[in-house]
Formats: sequence, C-alpha cells, structure tokens
Amino acid sequence: MCGICCVVTLCSQHAIHDFFNEGMLCRLRRRGPDSSQRLIKAASDLSYQCLFSGHVLHLRGLLTPQPLQDANNNIFLWNGEIFNGVHVGDLENDTEVMFRHLALCNSEVDILSLFSSVRGPWSFIYYQASRHSLWFGRDYFGRRSLLWQFGNEVDSTFCLTSVSVYSKSGNQWQEVPASGIFKIDLKACAAAKSLSLSLFPWKYSCTEKTVEEIFISVLDQVSKDLPNHIHLVMNESKLCLRAPVIPLNKTIPEASGECPGTDISNNIHMVSVKTLQGFLAEEHKKKLVHQFLDVLSEAVKRRVLFLFRGEDQKTREVPSIFNRKAHVAVLFSGGIDSMVIAALADKHVPLEEPIDLLNVAFMIKEKSKLKGTTKKDTNREAQLDLLCPQESCQHLGAKTGAHLSCFDVPDRITGRAGLKELEAINPSRTWNFVEINVTLEELKKLRQQCINRLIYPLDSVLDDSIGCAIWFASRGEGFISNQGELKPYKSVAKVVLTGIGADEQLAGYSRHRVCFKKYGLEGLNKELEMELNRISSRNLGRDDRIIGDHGKEARFPFLDEDVVSFLNSLPISEKADLTLPRGIASLKYCILQTGEYS
Ligand SMILES: *[C@@H]1O[C@H](CO)[C@@H](O)[C@H](O)[C@H]1NC(C)=O
Ligand SMILES: *[C@@H]1O[C@H](CO)[C@@H](O)[C@H](O)[C@H]1NC(C)=O
Ligand SMILES: *[C@@H]1O[C@H](CO)[C@@H](O)[C@H](O)[C@H]1NC(C)=O
Ligand SMILES: *[C@@H]1O[C@H](CO)[C@@H](O)[C@H](O)[C@H]1NC(C)=O
Repeated sequence: MCGICCVVTLCSQHAIHDFFNEGMLCRLRRRGPDSSQRLIKAASDLSYQCLFSGHVLHLRGLLTPQPLQDANNNIFLWNGEIFNGVHVGDLENDTEVMFRHLALCNSEVDILSLFSSVRGPWSFIYYQASRHSLWFGRDYFGRRSLLWQFGNEVDSTFCLTSVSVYSKSGNQWQEVPASGIFKIDLKACAAAKSLSLSLFPWKYSCTEKTVEEIFISVLDQVSKDLPNHIHLVMNESKLCLRAPVIPLNKTIPEASGECPGTDISNNIHMVSVKTLQGFLAEEHKKKLVHQFLDVLSEAVKRRVLFLFRGEDQKTREVPSIFNRKAHVAVLFSGGIDSMVIAALADKHVPLEEPIDLLNVAFMIKEKSKLKGTTKKDTNREAQLDLLCPQESCQHLGAKTGAHLSCFDVPDRITGRAGLKELEAINPSRTWNFVEINVTLEELKKLRQQCINRLIYPLDSVLDDSIGCAIWFASRGEGFISNQGELKPYKSVAKVVLTGIGADEQLAGYSRHRVCFKKYGLEGLNKELEMELNRISSRNLGRDDRIIGDHGKEARFPFLDEDVVSFLNSLPISEKADLTLPRGIASLKYCILQTGEYS
C-alpha cells in the first residue's frame, strides 16, 4: 500500500506547489510511512509541469522509493501488488518490474496489454516522456483508491491522489472511475489550452460484437460526472483492456420436471431414480465446494505469503511464543466470510506465527435511553445505530426491522464463537482475538478528526458507519485475553484480510432475498452483476483509504480474479438457493458444513 499523487498544470501562472497542500501530504504519508519523495517534471518549453509525490509502505523485497525515474525520463508511481500474470522474481520488486515493462512498450496497444495481464490490485500514474503522455487508472475492481480533481477552465490544473481532504475553496474531488485506464496528451492539451482525457475501457473480449454499445455506455457514464470543460474521448480504433475475469453465467435452470403432489412413494423405480438424482446432485455440490475451496485457498495463500517476514529471519533464534509478531490480520466478525478466510489463512501462514482476529464493538451506553424514542429522532446519535459491520447490520436488520440497534453484542458474541471453532481446528496456532471496544467519545473524536476525510468523497450514512467500523477494526488497538486476563494489545500486522465481495457474489445480503422474491433468478442475476460492477465506487476505494491510513494493506481474497471467474462461471442456482432459510442458502455455507476447510 502506498500513497501516490500527481499534480499537473498546463500553461499556468501558478506555482505547481500551490496545488499540493499540507493536509493531503500528511494523509499520503500515513499510507506510506517508509519513504516519501517528490519530483517535478517540466516540459522544455514549459507548456506543462507535473509534480509527482510517492509514499511507500514497505511490504516485500527491498525498499523501492517512489517516484521511479529512468534514463529516458519516464516516471512511475505504483500502488499495487502483482499476485500473478506478470512475472516477478524472488529478488525483484513489482514496482520496478512494472516500470521496466512499461518503458519497453512501443505503442498504446503494448501498454494496454501489460495492464490486461496483471492479476492483483493496483492504481498507478505513469509519465511517458517520449510522447508527453500521462497514463493512470485503477484495476478492474477498483481495489486501490485513486481520486481526481479538475481545476477551472482558466487554470487548467489537474490532480490525482490516493487520498485527499475536502477543501472549502477548492473543487470537488471524485474517485477515478474503475472503468478502464486514462491517458492525457500533455503537450496537445497545453496547445489546445484545454484538458482532454482518452479512456481505454475494460471489456470481456476485444472481439465482442457490441463494442460500439459498450464504448458509448462507458463514455456516457464517465463523462456525466466530469466538469463541462473536460473532454473525454475514446480511441477511434476502439482500443481496450481485456477484463481479467469471465462474464457472469446468467443461465437459469429449467423448472424441475417433477409434478408437485404426485405420490411417488409406491413406485420403487421412481424412488431410486430420485435417490440417484439426489446423490448426483450431492456429488455435484461436493465437487463444486471443493473447487471453490481450492481456488479461494490459493487466493488466500497469495495474500498471506506475499509479504516481508524478514525480522524473524534476522534474529535467527526461535522467539518465545509471546514475542512472535502476527504479520496477517483478519477483519473478524465471526460471520461465515471472516471464518472461512481465517481458516484458510491458517493453512498457509507459518504455524509459529500468530494470526490477529480483529473484532470491533461499539460501546454506546446512551443506547438504552434512546430505545424508547421514535424513528423520527433526527439527532446525529441515532445514526450510530447503523454503526456496525455490514454483515451483522444485515442480520439484525432482517430480524428487528428498520430501527437497528447493534452495539457490542452481536459481533462480539459471534466473534468469540468463531474463535472457539478456530481454536478447535488448529489448537497449536496462536489466535489473537483482539477485542476492540470503541466508546462514543472516541468515536466522535476520531470520526471528526480523520475518518470523515478518508471516507470523502463518499458521504452517505452507511459509508460513515462502515467506514468507522473498519477504521477502528483495522487500527487493531484493543485487548487480548491472556490466561483469562485482558491485556492491552496492538496489532502490527501490515496485511489485513477482509471478506468483502463474498456477499455481492453469493447473494448474501437481505436485499438479494427481496430482489429474488420480486424478480426471480433473472432479476437476481442482474442485481449481482450490477453490484460487482459498482463495488469499486461503493466500497473498495473507501476501504482502501481507511485501512491504508494505518500504514496497512487491505487484501480481498473473494475478489481475486480466479475466485471471481470461478464464481462467475456458475449459474446463480449453484451459488445460492434463496428458497432456503437465511444463513444456509449459500455455497459458502456448504464449505463450513464439509468441515474440510481445516
Ligand atoms: C517493492 O517495493 C515496495 C517499496 O519498498 C514495497 O512496498 C513492495 O512490497 C515491494 N514489492 C516486492 C514484490 O518486492
Ligand atoms: C488511437 O490509437 C492509435 C493506435 O495506437 C493511435 O495511433 C492514435 O493516435 C490513437 N488516437 C487517439 C485519439 O488517441
Ligand atoms: C470490551 O467489551 C466487552 C463486551 O462488552 C467486555 O466484556 C470487555 O470487558 C470490554 N473490554 C475492556 C478492556 O473494557
Ligand atoms: C453456465 O452454466 C451452465 C449450467 O451449469 C453450463 O452448462 C454452461 O456451460 C455455463 N456457461 C459458461 C459460459 O460457463
């Protein structure tokens, strides 16, 4: 996880530094505490200037300060991880590897094919000196944050950054849409005295017949949020990026041929056919569960092994169990998604290394007093009711209706139960169940001081609630139980695994039941496809900014490209049966049933 930023001025009278404010710098440093550097690049005729600022969190290999610059004056900022697709040798650094590949690209097609092949989360900024081009963008799911801001017509400034602060005077920041990658021809824009962006969108395959339609719809979508004086164009030869996943399988099973009400119990033949069908269905389910488990396990493996574990090697001695540090933490509600991830992490994290389970609870004492109040209660505190991770809100929401009241209870209880199961699965592992209790005062203070700014430019009540929960959880400051006694603990694990993406793909939210009831499987397919498409703007940019603020890196196993492709290949009927009761309806539940994740 790194903080990257670039400010561009075209024929501006202002000094470029004017656009680079202290608040933003401070936020960027928190994301990349291990190295901070900046670099200014000006065109020889001064028609444009760019300031690049890079802040690095060191996770693997040798520390590679950013921005990188090569002999041809190309410049590169990378906030990403290559988990696959582009070879990174054991002693190599992914930032350097990407930069080297980019510098070898001779055409736009080369650059697009490079980014099409990377597997893993990324956002980047690349200055291609020979063409005076600035390239930037986010990966297919938008797993890394990148914001942009455009100056007014006169100023022709443009800024990109991982995280920013709201400024009263300034213009709005927006998330860079994860719709493709962008290019600016700096020289041409300077000559035209106006900013024009080229967009190269993601597509499933470059031979799709509907290319034209896709281009138009993406273009519309992206340009509707741009200021009027910014032009957005697509390349006339329809260049595009290849999506790293396959499209969603929208097949709907034909209604089963069985006539309801027919008594078949006397017909031995029928019964055995039925049993056989049941058996085959079971076998089929089993196979699917194993396939799912395998692909998810690989995804978790990549995410827990790709990080720096140097300290232990340095001391060379076997540290006592109490001073072993965890390198991997899980945002742990005790719900199915976080359980599966923790159990799979256990398979791959070295056995002598503890795993931190981060479990957050909000201590809102005022709660009982609020109970009697009506829904109309408009005071700000009432919104705290929503303050808990999505999952448990959902569960409660389904049970108790609109006015949610979840403070410490649900996640702490499921969390402890989850811990027990994990301890049973692997008793020799040190499981640090970190109880993070947040008081109302602390919540108010930190939300004001910083969490609001990280959530920005998103601003809904739900963003606020989830954002606060994730911020406190990933900070990792709480208590662990040591022989029955609670002692203070701070998780220093730099990698934080989260289960986001599971419910979006496996129809785990209660809104999916509503959708299914109303519109059937067809409607549910549409809903799931839409939700995965918007997960970048709904969740991921925000979560990356929040977790990155602690100098930690969010990793999302359920959004691994292979996991998504596997799930996309299955028709909805294989993934969720919403005619079953809540909780046991989904494929991931089967995983727990088999008990074979251990
Ligand atoms: C490359 O270097 C950066 C900065 O030191 C670090 O964050 C990243 O984890 C490294 N990657 C690899 C693959 O070594
Ligand atoms: C479109 O792509 C072609 C091939 O890379 C390139 O020659 C041309 O300049 C591009 N056009 C624009 C408007 O970027
Ligand atoms: C945190 O909250 C839990 C549940 O309410 C409580 O049992 C525990 O003692 C609290 N921990 C601390 C350190 O206050
Ligand atoms: C979609 O699912 C159906 C039913 O399992 C299967 O027959 C078909 O091959 C799948 N299609 C794709 C493109 O994977």
